[in-house]
Amino acid sequence: VLCNFPKERKHILEVLFNGLRRLEYRGYDSAGISIDYEPCNATKASGGLKDLAISRPPLVFRQSGKIEKLVTTVYQEVDETELDLEVTFPNHVGIAHTRWATHGPPSPKNSHPQSSGEGNEFLVVHNGIITNYMVLKETLLRHGFTFESDTDTEVIPKLAKFVYDKLSEEINSMKQSGGEALSFHQVVMEVVRQLEGAYALIFKSPHYPNELVACKRGSPLLIGVKSPGCPAKDVKEDADVKDGFSTLKDSGSRKELFLASDASALVEHTKRVMIIEDDEVVHVKDGSVSIFKFDPTKNLGGLRRPASVQRALSTLDMEVEQIKKGNYDHFMQKEIYEQPESLRTTLRGRLIPGDESKVKGVLLGGLKAHLRTIRRSRRILFIGCGTSFHAALATRPLVEELSEVPVTMEIASDFLDRRAPIYREDTAVFVSQSGETADTLQALEYAKSHGALCVGITNTVGSAISRGTDCGVHINAGCEIGVASTKAYTSQIAVMTMLALAIGEDAISTRARREAIIDGLLDLPGVVKEVLKLDEKMKELAATLMEEQSLLLFGRGYNYATALEGALKVKELALMHSEGILAGEMKHGPLALVDETLPIIVIATRDSTCSKQQSVIQQLQARKGRLIVMCAKGDAAIMCPNGASYVIEVPHIQDCLQPIINIIPLQLLAYHLTVLRGFNVDQPRNLAKSVTTE
Ligand code: G6P
Repeated sequence: VLCNFPKERKHILEVLFNGLRRLEYRGYDSAGISIDYEPCNATKASGGLKDLAISRPPLVFRQSGKIEKLVTTVYQEVDETELDLEVTFPNHVGIAHTRWATHGPPSPKNSHPQSSGEGNEFLVVHNGIITNYMVLKETLLRHGFTFESDTDTEVIPKLAKFVYDKLSEEINSMKQSGGEALSFHQVVMEVVRQLEGAYALIFKSPHYPNELVACKRGSPLLIGVKSPGCPAKDVKEDADVKDGFSTLKDSGSRKELFLASDASALVEHTKRVMIIEDDEVVHVKDGSVSIFKFDPTKNLGGLRRPASVQRALSTLDMEVEQIKKGNYDHFMQKEIYEQPESLRTTLRGRLIPGDESKVKGVLLGGLKAHLRTIRRSRRILFIGCGTSFHAALATRPLVEELSEVPVTMEIASDFLDRRAPIYREDTAVFVSQSGETADTLQALEYAKSHGALCVGITNTVGSAISRGTDCGVHINAGCEIGVASTKAYTSQIAVMTMLALAIGEDAISTRARREAIIDGLLDLPGVVKEVLKLDEKMKELAATLMEEQSLLLFGRGYNYATALEGALKVKELALMHSEGILAGEMKHGPLALVDETLPIIVIATRDSTCSKQQSVIQQLQARKGRLIVMCAKGDAAIMCPNGASYVIEVPHIQDCLQPIINIIPLQLLAYHLTVLRGFNVDQPRNLAKSVTTE
C-alpha cells in the first residue's frame, strides 16, 4: 500500500512480484495479482466513484504455475493493452497471492485474487480454508450469484458484494436521516462474521479506492511499515522504534505499508512490523492504519463502533541475506550447509561451560519459571507434525532418562482425531518450525482447554504457537525456505536436548552424564562441519541409487527418528518410495522384503543399541541384503565384518547428539538424489512449507 508515496506502475508491480517470490516457498502452484487501472484522486473519489469503478475496474491477472509465469503474463498483457508502466500513482493498493491448492486444481480461475464478479467490485486474497463455504455458496446462488471457480475462497468476495449492496441500501436510507456512510471495515466484519474455518484475508475494492482491509483467524498476518527516514536496512533506527500505533495515524505522511503472511516478504522493505491477532480487522485508509478488535458474535449494529487496538511496532530479527540463496544452487543445499552456524546460534548464550564458580548447565530463559511444574508433571507429551515430530522423537529417550517422567509421542492430527485424554498435571510440548501448522495449533488449543501446561518450541518469533503457549524456547535456526526441513530439524533436537538437561538439572546422579552432553553440545558445530565433508561421498552413493524404486532405513533408539526423517527426506524430495523402520521390528515383517536388490541403510553408530544393530546387519547379510551401513568412523570392520555395498562413516559424538550428525549425510543423499532424478529440490510436488489448513 502506497500512501502519499508517488510511484509508477512498474514499481508497484515489482514490489508485489518480489513479495510473491519471497513467499513462493509457502505455495507455488498458481499466483495472481491485482492493481489499479489508473490513479484515483480525491476528486474522482468523491464524485462519481462508482462510475469510475465500473468503467475502470482494478486489473486482475491470474496464472497457474510458478510466479515467473505470472510475471511474464502480466508484462505481456500490460504491453498488449498499452497500459502505461510509467504512470504515477500517488496512492495505491495492490494485492497478490501465491497458492497451494486446497479446493480445486491449480488453474487461472482457481487462483487468487478471487472476485465478486463483473467489475471486480470486491477482490480477495486468502490463506487458509473456509469450512462452511458450501452453505454460503448455496445462499449466494439463491440470490443470483454465479460462481466461476472451484475454490472455497470465491464465496468471500461474493458475500462482500452481497453485504455491501444490502448495507448500502439500508445505510443510504438512514443517511437521509443523518446516518453515517458505510465503511470498508464494516463490510468486511459483516462478511467474516459469517465465515467458519481459518483465514488471513485481504480485501480490495473500487468502492473504496486506495483503501484496504485485512483480517485473520488462525492463519498468520503481519504489517510492515516503511516511511522515509526509516530505511529497511537501518537497523539502528529500527531498533529505536518506540512509537506505538498512533504514529501510523498521521494521515498525509508518506508511507509504504506491507501486509503479508510472513516476514520474509517484508524484510527487504522494512523491519518495523506489527503482528495481527485473531479476530482483528486492519483498515488502511488515507495513509493511516486502524486496527479493530472484532467480535464475530455481533452483527453490524454491534460492529458500528468496534474497539480499536493500540500496539507497538516490533523489530524483525531477520536479515535479507537469510532469504537469498547466495552461492548455492538451492535453498535446501544452503540450509544443509548452514547447520554449523544455525546450531551455534541455537546454542548461543544457553550453555554454561562451567568453571570454579559455576556448575555446567543450560540456561533457557523462556522456561525458567515453569521448570518446577514440568518436573512434577505426571507425563510429558511431545506433539508435532512431519519433521518436527521426528525431532521430538529423537530426544524422547534423553528426556525420559533425565526427567524420569514418561514421555508420549503424539502426531498432532492423530491426537486431535482421538480427542486423546490430557490433564492439568500434564506438560504438552508443541514442536513446530513455522509455529503455524494448523493441526499443531489446534492440538495446542485443545491441550490448553484441558489445563495442561503448554510449552512451545518454534523457529518463528511471534508465531501463533509461540504466542499461544505458556512458555517455550525459540530455536533461532534462522529463516528456513526449503520446503523440506533441514537446519530447523537439527536445531530442534539441540533445543530439546537442552530442555532435557534443564528438566534434569537437579539430579546429582546424572550430573556427569549431563556435563558430558554439554561438552558434546559445545563441540557440536565443529563436528557438524566435519560430517558435511561427506557431501561428495553422498553424491556418489546417490548416483548408485538414483534408478531405484525403493529405499529402506533401519534405525533404533536415538536413531529411530533418523531412519524416519531420512526416509521422509528421500520420499518428499526425490519422489522415491522410502520407509524408516524400527530395527527391533525387522523380524515382524520387513525382513520379508529383503533380497539382493532392495537397498537398505542401517544406522549403526555407537550407543547402547549398537550391538543389537550389529546382529541386525548380520541377519540382513545372511539374507544377501544390499546393505549400506552408517557407522562411527573406524567401526566399519567391527560393524560389518562381511562387508557392505557401501559404508558411511560419521564422526562420533555423545549418543543423544548423534541423530544431529547422522541425519546430515541423509539430507545430502536426499538432496543429490533429487537433483539427479530431476525433481524440484526446494518446492517438492504437492507439498507446502507451512500447512495452515487441516
Ligand atoms: C510441512 C513441511 C515440513 C514440516 C511439517 C511441520 O509438512 O513441509 O517440513 O516438518 O510441515 O511443520 P512445522 O512448521 O509445524 O514444523
